[in-house]
Amino acid sequence: MTFTERYGSPHTRMIDLVQAWDIPFEQIKAGDKFCVLTDTGMDPLVWESAMAALKLRGAEALLCMWPRLKYHNDSPPEMAIEAARASDVVIALTTTALNSGTPALRSLRAQGGGTGKKPIWLMEEMTAEILTQGGGSVSKDEFLEICQRQSRIGEILDRSKHIRVTSSFGSDLTAQIDGYPANALRDRWGRVPFQRNSSGGLGGGTWPWGEVHVEPVPGTANGTLVWDTTAHHPAGLWREPVTLTIKDGRVMDIDGGVEANEVRWYLETYGDENSYLCGGEIALGTNQRCPPYTGQLRSEKKRYGAMHFGIGHGADRGIVKSKLRCEGVISRVTIVVDDSTVICDNGRILV
Ligand SMILES: [Fe+2]
Repeated sequence: MTFTERYGSPHTRMIDLVQAWDIPFEQIKAGDKFCVLTDTGMDPLVWESAMAALKLRGAEALLCMWPRLKYHNDSPPEMAIEAARASDVVIALTTTALNSGTPALRSLRAQGGGTGKKPIWLMEEMTAEILTQGGGSVSKDEFLEICQRQSRIGEILDRSKHIRVTSSFGSDLTAQIDGYPANALRDRWGRVPFQRNSSGGLGGGTWPWGEVHVEPVPGTANGTLVWDTTAHHPAGLWREPVTLTIKDGRVMDIDGGVEANEVRWYLETYGDENSYLCGGEIALGTNQRCPPYTGQLRSEKKRYGAMHFGIGHGADRGIVKSKLRCEGVISRVTIVVDDSTVICDNGRILV
């Protein structure tokens, strides 16, 4: 954000941007079919550079663009979904979220033959600055270090039953987190993304890389969670935090200033009853190249020591399904599991 404010987004950034795709695009081969999704709100340099980098690798690439949707997790046009269905990999470079909280994408996500689910590389709300100056600028060594850090955290979460989240703005939330298959979180978050699987197909990934998340068991989250940085809505760096009061896995109250009014309006207008359930995710950011105070969710949610907390749809357990998932960020979090292991202490990861 700072870089763009100072220098704008000149087309000369393309010189750096083409190279910025080197890690996520490393395993792409000639003939791989890519469907790049974008909208009219996106900085064209972002998808232009992705298309150029795909062409350089001999991939077959199609771009689908539509007028920007009204809210995150709104469904893209059916025509785009049909095009995506015919591709090997979908890349989301939209300005609205297309994560698993997006109803129209769920059938696409479930699609896949012997190689498993169709990969959707989530990179929504991407900026040229994130790619070249922020979380996307990691070196290969830093990238692999993130994977190792996430493997260690996933391993601890896999053997834990209970989580407690606190923060300096007054968060104090507890939840049950067991019930995953053995080693599910270590394998999911510790693996190297964007790699080919044993059948030769490309696997999933998000960019910038850098989060470990666990879903609370529905009905078990209790306490207070304070989003203090930003959320899907309203966009930008917040001035007043928003307090969620959670009882038995459901958001009962949303308090704060103008941002809280906006969050309430957003959920009432675009969500459904299940959008208030927890639900979504308790996720720790692990990428040290994501700078603080950007107010950009794409970057803040991956920032080392920050947490994003999502209400609504939860993909892992497949129990809570909602029209949208709303994610918000806690700047510096403390996470303790089973009252004994401190995973993160006020923004410093200890494992
Ligand atoms: Fe997440």
